[in-house]
Amino acid sequence: AAMRSFVEALPKTELHLHIEGTLEPELLFALAQRNKVALPYASVEALRAAYDFTDLQSFLDLYYAGANVLQTEQDFHDMTAAYIARARADNVRHAEIFFDPQTHTERGIGIDVVFAGIARALRQARDEHGFSSAMIMSFLRHLSEEDAFTTLKAALPLREQYRDLWNGIGLDSSERGNPPEKFAKVFARCRELGFHLVAHAGEEGPPAYILGALDVLKVERIDHGVRSEEDPALMERLAREKMPLTVCPLSNLKLCVVDDMAKHNLARLLRAGLAVTVNSDDPAYFGGYMNDNYLAVASALELSRAEIVQLARNGIDASFLPAADKGRLT
Ligand code: HPA
Ligand code: ZN
Repeated sequence: AAMRSFVEALPKTELHLHIEGTLEPELLFALAQRNKVALPYASVEALRAAYDFTDLQSFLDLYYAGANVLQTEQDFHDMTAAYIARARADNVRHAEIFFDPQTHTERGIGIDVVFAGIARALRQARDEHGFSSAMIMSFLRHLSEEDAFTTLKAALPLREQYRDLWNGIGLDSSERGNPPEKFAKVFARCRELGFHLVAHAGEEGPPAYILGALDVLKVERIDHGVRSEEDPALMERLAREKMPLTVCPLSNLKLCVVDDMAKHNLARLLRAGLAVTVNSDDPAYFGGYMNDNYLAVASALELSRAEIVQLARNGIDASFLPAADKGRLT
């Protein structure tokens, strides 16, 4: 109970959050009804019961199916507004949010609809509550690099309109068999364009994918990165370079990246000097938002209060906020 209030009181940042992964079953059902989309589940309870995953792909299949209910600007707004309310309740002060336009444009939804709905909710939260945020447009790595270029080309005319929010490019979806090198050219282009770059690596994929993300894609943070522990030289490099890892404990447990939270390597990585941060990934699917993620590792790994403070501090340092705004968060 003391630990819970300690974690709740900490100002936090969220750096690894897929907005489509915040769609709670209740809202998913409501949007299905609003948009007259048929669902293969009889109830909210039946849907939630299906969230029993064996690996990343078993989750992604449901996550992409769930996203089919998102059709209008209002839908993207409502999903984002619901996430912000939940994040604020956890004392999250700043969030850098992934969104996957290809999941929607593949279904005939305009990329402008996706940007507009998410951005309207983020701007409203900024104006009403001082909640700060950024948008990280992510490419789906199971699709081709050509498809990523098509998406970038469709998004760039929106850049001016969303300059206050859209500052990053990410890479997500099925990791195995889709190494970072597959996206070398499009990431090089995004780098020239001045975007911050991040990529999922070393969640299910090998340490070589983390090296590829660093050396070929030239990312500024590694999303997940927990498999770096298998390569001691890589671990030393990550520590030396203060390369942030956006670790997602409850996600790793739900997707069987670890079979027991007590065996999670977050504490070992942190104690080896890596810039580990705590994040919620797809909280509607993985059973917990930010405070639940902090509490899960605090308890299972017996973290000290100083270590918990360090995790939150790392999250502020690893954010793409200007230095002055980072200072305001501590
Ligand atoms: N890994 C890869 N792709 C994803 C994830 C993840 O954890 N969440 C949503 N898309
Ligand atoms: Zn993720």
